[in-house]
Amino acid sequence: MKRIKISDVLKSDKFGEKILVKGWVRTKRVSKNVCFIALNDGSTVNNLQIVIDVNPEMEEILSKVHTGASLSVVGKTVESGGSGQNVELHCESFEILGQANPDEYPLQPKRHSLEFLREIAHLRPRTNTFSAVFRIRHAMTYAVHKFFNDKGFSNIHTPIVTGSDAEGAGEMFRVTTLDMENLPKTKDGKIDYSQDFFGRETNLTVSGQLEGELFALALAEIYTFGPTFRAENSNTARHLAEFWMIEPEMAFYDINDNMDLAEEMLKYLVNYALTNCREDLDFLAKRREEEQKQKPQNERDTMNLIEKLEFVVNNEFERITYTEAIDILKNSNANKKGQFSYIIEGWGADLQSEHERYLVEKHFKKPVILTDYPKEIKAFYMKQNDDGKTVRAMDVLFPQIGEIIGGSQREEDYDKLVTRMKEMNIPAEEMWWYLDTRKFGSVPHSGFGLGFERLMLFVTGMGNIRDVIPFPRTPKNAEF
Ligand code: 4AD
Ligand code: MG
Repeated sequence: MKRIKISDVLKSDKFGEKILVKGWVRTKRVSKNVCFIALNDGSTVNNLQIVIDVNPEMEEILSKVHTGASLSVVGKTVESGGSGQNVELHCESFEILGQANPDEYPLQPKRHSLEFLREIAHLRPRTNTFSAVFRIRHAMTYAVHKFFNDKGFSNIHTPIVTGSDAEGAGEMFRVTTLDMENLPKTKDGKIDYSQDFFGRETNLTVSGQLEGELFALALAEIYTFGPTFRAENSNTARHLAEFWMIEPEMAFYDINDNMDLAEEMLKYLVNYALTNCREDLDFLAKRREEEQKQKPQNERDTMNLIEKLEFVVNNEFERITYTEAIDILKNSNANKKGQFSYIIEGWGADLQSEHERYLVEKHFKKPVILTDYPKEIKAFYMKQNDDGKTVRAMDVLFPQIGEIIGGSQREEDYDKLVTRMKEMNIPAEEMWWYLDTRKFGSVPHSGFGLGFERLMLFVTGMGNIRDVIPFPRTPKNAEF
C-alpha cells in the first residue's frame, strides 16, 4: 500500500477509503475503550486524528505509544463528528516504527519556550511552530528563484572561499589548513601563507557581490543566493554569523531601477507567502497574537501578521534621502527627549536599527528606502554623487527589522574607483580582476543584497533570527 500524506487526507472529502499513513505521535488520549492519537507527518501543521478501539491484546502495544513515537497506520477515513477536522482515521492495524521514551524525550505536548527549543534544535522541527517556519522558508527559497527566473536573470554560484573582503569591513572567518600548533614563518617573522592550502590568505565570503558584478557585466542580469559569513560580534535578534543572502546585480540599471526591482521583489515574495503558505501563516499569526497578549497594551502590534504582510504588498514604499532622514530624526521627540540609545547629533551619523525603525514604524508607518548616504559610512564600490559627499546607496527599511536590503549603484569609473580604494586602504593590486571590469566595456550597473533570514523574520513574524534558520551560528554557538 502506498503512503498518503496527511495534508492530502485532510483535504479529501471521500470517506470510507482504506489508506496507509505514517507519522509521529503528537498526543495520545485514552477514554474508556477508545484511544485517540494525533498524528503529524510534517506535510501540514494539522494533525490527523487516529481512532483506535482498544481491546485487551492491544493494550500492551498501545502502552508503548508515547508522544514522539513514529507509527505506520492502516485504517478507514471517516467523517469526523468532532470540531476542527472533517476527517479522522479509524485504525484497522498499526505498527510502531520507532519508540520515544517519555522519560527522555524532551518535547512534551505543552508550550515550550523558544529559548528551550533552541537548545534542542535537532528536535524542534517536530513542533508546529518550527515545522511551519521551515515549510515557509522552503516556499520563500522557491519564490526567490521563480521571481528571478521569470524575469530572465541567471543564478550564479559565487565562491564561498575567497581571497577578497567584499565589504571592506574585515570581519571574516579565516580558512586554512596550516598547523595551528606549528605555523610556518617567513624571514621577517610573519605567518607564511604561501605554504597554506591555496598559497595565500583565504576567508569565508562576506558577500558574492564582487564576483556577481563580473557576471553582470557579461550576462547583464544575474543573482546569487548563497551562504555568507560575518565574524562580527553582534549578539542581537537580527544578526547571524552564517546567513543566506540574495544578491541581484544588473548591468544598465541606475539606482532608481535598482529601487524598483527591490520593491517589486519584496512585494512578490510576501505575496507569494500569502497565497501559498496560508495555513502555516494563519497558525503563526495566531501564535503571535497570543504572544502579543502577554505584552502591555501600548507595546502591542496594531496589525496582526496577515494584515502586516498585506500592508507591505499594497502600499508604496517611501523613498527619501539620508539627509532628509537625518532632519526627521534630529527633530523627532525621541531624539530631543533622549529616548534613542544613540542620539543623532547631525549629518554624518551612522543609523542604528532604532533610528531605522523609528522612521518606518513611527514616522512614515510603511517601508522606507533611504538613499544617498555619506560616503564615509558606506563601501568603496558605491557610485559617488557629484556633491563629493554622498554615494548612490539604497537601504530598504522594514517594520520590526530595520535594514532588510542594502545596495547601491556601483562606481563604474575606473579612476574614481581606484582613488576611493586608495583612500580606504583597499589593496587595488589584489583586486585587479574587479578593476578590469571598469577598464574593459564598463557600464553603469547596480545591485543589492537581501538578507534571507531578515525576510523570514518579517514573513513569519518570529522575533529572533535564531528561530528562522535551521541551525543558527552566533558568537559562542555552533552546536549541531
Ligand atoms: O548591507 P550588506 O552588508 O550589503 C552587502 O553585503 C552588499 N554586498 C549587498 C549588495 O549590494 N550586493 O548586507 C546585505 C543584507 C542586509 O541588508 C541584511 O539584510 C543582511 O544582508 N545581513 C545580515 N543578516 C543576518 N545577519 C547578519 N550578520 C547580516 N549582515 C547583513
Ligand atoms: Mg548594509
